[in-house]
Amino acid sequence: MERAALTRRGLLVGIGAAGGAGAMYAAMGALGLAPSEQDKEFTAPRAGDFSLRGKGAAKVVILGAGVAGLTAAYELGKAGYDCTLLEARQKTGGRSLTLRGGDRLAELNGPSQEVTFGAGVYFNAGPGRIAPWMVTLDYCRELGVPIETFVNNNAAAYVHTNGQTTRARTARADMYGYVAELLAKATHAGALDRTITKDDQERLLDFLRRFGDLGPKLEYEGSERRGFTKFPALDTGTPIDDPGTLHRILAAGTGRAITNDFGYEQATPMFQPVGGMDAIVAKLTEAVGQDRIKTGAKVTKITNLADGVEVVWDGGSIKADYCVATLPPHLLAKIPHNLGAQVTTVLKTPVPVAAGKIGLEYGRRWWELEDRIYGGVTETDLDITHIWYPSHGYHAERGVLVGYYNTERNAELYGALTPEDRRRRALTQGKKIHGDKYRQNLLSSVSVAWDRQEHIQGGWVRWPSFDSSFTFLQRPAGRVYFAGDWLTHLIAWQAGAMESARGAVTLLHQRVLQSP
Ligand code: ALA
Repeated sequence: MERAALTRRGLLVGIGAAGGAGAMYAAMGALGLAPSEQDKEFTAPRAGDFSLRGKGAAKVVILGAGVAGLTAAYELGKAGYDCTLLEARQKTGGRSLTLRGGDRLAELNGPSQEVTFGAGVYFNAGPGRIAPWMVTLDYCRELGVPIETFVNNNAAAYVHTNGQTTRARTARADMYGYVAELLAKATHAGALDRTITKDDQERLLDFLRRFGDLGPKLEYEGSERRGFTKFPALDTGTPIDDPGTLHRILAAGTGRAITNDFGYEQATPMFQPVGGMDAIVAKLTEAVGQDRIKTGAKVTKITNLADGVEVVWDGGSIKADYCVATLPPHLLAKIPHNLGAQVTTVLKTPVPVAAGKIGLEYGRRWWELEDRIYGGVTETDLDITHIWYPSHGYHAERGVLVGYYNTERNAELYGALTPEDRRRRALTQGKKIHGDKYRQNLLSSVSVAWDRQEHIQGGWVRWPSFDSSFTFLQRPAGRVYFAGDWLTHLIAWQAGAMESARGAVTLLHQRVLQSP
């Protein structure tokens, strides 16, 4: 047995080296070893994969030219698949939308907005930041999209909770300081004697002194970490007032605001494409070929046939060998098909989540000039939730703040307002943090309510549970494959769309190589 296994593996390695991954998959299929999961290391299909099997690439119709659809077409294109993309919107990219002066943003049940930003000014209305471990950066590298740092964590930004505005560095110093003091005192008083050894208590105390900047008596007495009203220069500077009591710090309720970027998705450093997030979409579109993409093409029917798949859209129909459907599940569910009742049931399971953003263009970068905030995010418990300061164009004349980025109920609330009222409300809220200057030098604004964007109708989705219905559509229904961030654990990230597309491409390519 063992010798047989070794021999088989040796054979596969040899085939892989000579004929590429596709040849190896074909051979593995023949040996009954083909991987059954999508989450294997991705290898892009190659034209050479077909040589061993004497096959040609198949014809594939891709529904949706957002990040998932474009990635699928791009990867399949590497092996010469004949891809056609049907996109209901007027341009590619879906939610990966960057708005600039001259753009027009239409909205379902609402007025269109003309974007009047000045030259060089842009607003990422959809995705705005990329974590370094995400596959999105691999595509940036491969496609030649230059990237720069996205400042997700800025000690100089504010936290605004319970009606109080504090610099993030101050809020952190105080919360860490008092938590460290409590734990240090408890340790010192022997409260942990039954939990950890004396040596470990000493180590813990050493850490807590550093973590909280504690004094010799293990007391948090305020610290330089809180910041200054006048920073040190020739003199030692003027520290800001003392923190006040632990009760005051806890009552300020900053705990949530200062831990917002602790997660693996949000940890610093993060990145953004230079010049706007849509640079990724633009490069993918170029690589796929605009001539393969029909925009303004709304799909009305999907039919699995014995030898292929037929897709009807409002301007015609197309027959292909396979289909990759990347529309949002709640919209895909409404398209007549013969894929079976369970497909419809599962497509209806994820719940669309509203998300909204407003871009506020100012003629003066007062946040840099007066607040000394260079990029980063102010966290609030207001309905605007966050304010983002631009991580590019420092010291330029103009700049765009994200005046709100909210989800669920808050996004629905803003979405229901007119664009003018959204701006008014955002300014009223932002003024609570930044004062009158928040209303001054405002040149223009544009807001997006993703649940009101035609052919998208949601910021992203939430699965009630990641159960068998979630994995069900990671497999094809007949000749129709599904892809999108909604089929991954990276919902609301371009990386999810890309990983999902890679999964569908891998399965589709294996099937083509293995088919008789
Ligand atoms: N990907 C979304 C964000 O960065 C959730 O906020």
